[in-house]
Amino acid sequence: MRFVTITSGKGGVGKSTISANLSYMLSIYGYKVALFDADIGLANQDIILGVKPQYTILDVMKGEVSFEECVVKINNNFFLIPGESGEEILEFDNEELLENFYKGVESFGELDFLIIDTGAGIGETVRSFIKASTDTIIITAPDPSAIMDAYSMIKYSAKIKDELYLVLNRVKSKKEANEIFKKLQNVAKKHIQESIELQFLGFVENSSLVEEATKKRELIAKDHASSIPALQIGDIAKKLTNSLTKDGEHIKETPNIAIFFKRLLQQI
Ligand SMILES: Nc1ncnc2c1ncn2[C@@H]1O[C@H](COP(=O)(O)OP(=O)(O)O)[C@@H](O)[C@H]1O
Ligand SMILES: [Mg+2]
Repeated sequence: MRFVTITSGKGGVGKSTISANLSYMLSIYGYKVALFDADIGLANQDIILGVKPQYTILDVMKGEVSFEECVVKINNNFFLIPGESGEEILEFDNEELLENFYKGVESFGELDFLIIDTGAGIGETVRSFIKASTDTIIITAPDPSAIMDAYSMIKYSAKIKDELYLVLNRVKSKKEANEIFKKLQNVAKKHIQESIELQFLGFVENSSLVEEATKKRELIAKDHASSIPALQIGDIAKKLTNSLTKDGEHIKETPNIAIFFKRLLQQI
């Protein structure tokens, strides 16, 4: 069971797009995946995945519906835990909220991945997710301000995680992705800490197909499965699953979802 937090310094760099497509690819590879839409600024996974959830996690918190009732099945292996935009969710007692949540998530049974799509920047909630997760993926676009913000995010995350993944989105080429990664890695080693393990998880090219898919409420990995960006997201999924195994053994694995939420609760 892996808990993957997807985050970024700057907004609009493709966190939600990549979270949705990555989750879908993992489900196609046979992994059981839950995607939690945890961006309280803009919870938009329902739009990206083209579904209309009846309830969100907020309704669960309010005790109005059960956790199972709020979950939306995307396919046999892929479930969405819809989020809610707005500060209202923050009014809930965090401990109670998360305890409720983890009991609910246990109902999935054996999950392979819980992917958490967070909001941009460094807030308390994002910090808790990073701390509790087995894997943290920082997404950045190639523009200078996004790279600056990615650097701040790396600096901040390095205080709580010594291994971080980087995904370059909206790049022109693999070459550009590699160059930006190398630069960030060098600066991180020099100015943050020598021991930081910044790993290149992959890249997705800038493609009008992706933008159009979002507008049409299509999923690039599903509806344009043989397109270049879909294949690139497939590569990210493969790399993520490869990093799981060392001599055939799953590394960094935690027994179940309850452990994740216990870890999360300990932060609060
Ligand atoms: N590789 C890409 N090429 C072109 N457009 C992209 C790409 N990735 C994301 N986008 C577009 O960028 C916008 C913001 O993406 P989104 O995933 O919502 O970002 P975030 O969750 O980081 O705020 C969307 O309109 C999406 O279609
Ligand atoms: Mg988003």
